Amino acid sequence: MKKWRYFFLPALMLGMALGFTGCKKSAEDEQAIKVGEFASLTGKEATFGISSHEGTLLAVEDLNAKGGLLGKKVELLTEDDLSKAGEPATVVNKLISRDGVVAILGEVASSRSLEAAPICQEAHIPMISPSSTNPKVTETGDYIFRVCFIDPFQGTVMANFATKTLKAKKVAVFTDVKSDYSKGLAKFFKEGFIANGGAIVVELDYNGGDKDFKAELTAIKSANPDAIFIPGYYTDVALICIQAKQLGLSVPIFGGDGWESDQLVKIGQDAVEGTYFSTHYAPDVATENSKKFVADYQKRWKTAEGAPKLPDAMAALGYDSAMILADAIKRAGTTDGPKVRDALAATKEFDGVTGKTTINEKRDATKSAVILQVKGGTFHYVETVNP
Ligand code: PHE
Repeated sequence: MKKWRYFFLPALMLGMALGFTGCKKSAEDEQAIKVGEFASLTGKEATFGISSHEGTLLAVEDLNAKGGLLGKKVELLTEDDLSKAGEPATVVNKLISRDGVVAILGEVASSRSLEAAPICQEAHIPMISPSSTNPKVTETGDYIFRVCFIDPFQGTVMANFATKTLKAKKVAVFTDVKSDYSKGLAKFFKEGFIANGGAIVVELDYNGGDKDFKAELTAIKSANPDAIFIPGYYTDVALICIQAKQLGLSVPIFGGDGWESDQLVKIGQDAVEGTYFSTHYAPDVATENSKKFVADYQKRWKTAEGAPKLPDAMAALGYDSAMILADAIKRAGTTDGPKVRDALAATKEFDGVTGKTTINEKRDATKSAVILQVKGGTFHYVETVNP
């Protein structure tokens, strides 16, 4: 009891102090346009949330440096969803009802966007996912948008890559059944690869977060595929590649945007060397907008080791998502949900870091994909595939 009281008094004082600063908010703060963001800043897919947030925050800072929006500052309120199911609903509800945000930016992972989308739809608060690619995300309703391509396209891109570049005839597919993204991309890849005349010789499942993939990989080995497609996220993929190597599997392994993280190489080391994946953006493709973005991003953000950080697809799409929202608010002349929704739906040829974005009638964007290869521990640009 006593201990508790000792703790309680300072806690109470701290609470009061925070309360006071809350009251002393400047008129400018009160008037700021509040934009909510939810992201996996910690947990299993932490690099997704961190990259996306760094891009998004850079955009908000750029906007404010140029005078903000509708004569007001923009305030970004960011919530960590811990990379965990259940959290997106909690934090997005908070952002909408407690903080009164006018729009939501997020998430990277499709399953987490799918969890938050019905809440935004119901509240008539526009939501823009920077990088969720599962088609169901925007099918939730007319307030839900994305600024990236979708997986029927990404699946076809990798099916054609398997057929034409890898010259594969028989492919094994290894899917994370806990992830809407993984299940969708597996399906679209299979359809494309079969349409190319290829055969799926074995299909196996895992649960994101599993640590031992030996039994499944042994089954894959005995099916004798020419290549293995893993539509998963980097932490699992790195472990799968390590165990595949241990089992003596030496055929090409390839996947989708979920692979993109410096952690893929940090965990996977030489087991991921030579692998390929598709994604949305490569800093090596030096358009004017991208060159400026890379320079600004590197000035603003550092790696854990203190070196200038190279932006990835999530950072670039995070930046574009915030700028596309700002453009819509400007055109709407208000932050009123239904009007911003209409302005977002009318987005045409927005010239951003990841190319031109036009929002189609399904509230998706049509964009090119890039294919990268892991070489010497870094990602090397291989090719751009246009829609
Ligand atoms: N497209 C993935 C999904 O929908 C997320 C992702 C985007 C991962 C971009 C990496 C890069 O779940």
